[in-house]
Amino acid sequence: MLKDKVAVITGSVRGIGRAIAMCFAKQGANVVINYSSEKRKEEADQVVTEIKALGGKAIALCANVANSEEAKGLIEGTIAAFGKIDILVNNAGITKDMLLLRMTEKEFQEVLDVNLKGVFNCSKHGAKAMMKTGGSIINMTSVVGINGNAGQSNYAASKAGVIGFTKSVAKEFAGKNIRVNAIAPGFITTDMTDILPERVKESVMTSIPMKCFGVSEEIANVAVFLASDLSSYITGEVIKVDGGMAM
Ligand code: NAI
Repeated sequence: MLKDKVAVITGSVRGIGRAIAMCFAKQGANVVINYSSEKRKEEADQVVTEIKALGGKAIALCANVANSEEAKGLIEGTIAAFGKIDILVNNAGITKDMLLLRMTEKEFQEVLDVNLKGVFNCSKHGAKAMMKTGGSIINMTSVVGINGNAGQSNYAASKAGVIGFTKSVAKEFAGKNIRVNAIAPGFITTDMTDILPERVKESVMTSIPMKCFGVSEEIANVAVFLASDLSSYITGEVIKVDGGMAM
């Protein structure tokens, strides 16, 4: 479904980003694995090796998406390696959960810098590179950005911002055949959610009608749909993948 497409997935050494990279590669895409610092180079190289073992093409590029110059370098590096960019998945994200009265300005700012400014940085340079060819940009938001969540005001604000950003940019680029959509996962089992205490997980489970947590591949399948021509008439949309959690 993505044969010969070139895809950049930010934050793709593990979790949802990694699953998206693997799924895209299986669908024939050439994939750029992005990691945030040299500490993660080994993990990134491992994902590249796995994709190559499947017969796919992949490279790994280091860039902190919160840094505008590094985000620009990520897009430039992709074009240097593969000659174009068709798909950008803004997946990189962090949490720094805290109740508002105890949250520091640093905790608020850092989450906004990665989760929202990172999406701005990569989209700006990515969309510029897609202007002649068209493309698909997929932003990772969250059901928390729709409904809010106590203890996550920084994260929810960043993810709500991603939704507004997605719809605005979708309107700006619709005439250029660049589609911009978002995926809003519910509770997906990854390193990000593994750190939560059992009592929090049990409480979340009570709010999920399907009575199970999601897995990264269930997000990746929707990313394949949004990246491919199967969704050719969809832009500015937010697709919840949450077992009914935010109905
Ligand atoms: P994760 O923590 O397993 O993976 C996040 C990835 O982003 C890591 O590879 C990390 O190194 C990378 N990253 C962090 N800061 C970065 C930066 N400045 N530059 C480049 N890469 C950076 O998390 P997970 O669960 O895979 O989440 C992926 C996305 O899905 C995130 O945007 C997250 O907010 C979102 N999401 C996850 C949910 C879940 O239940 N796991 C629910 C809703 C949204």
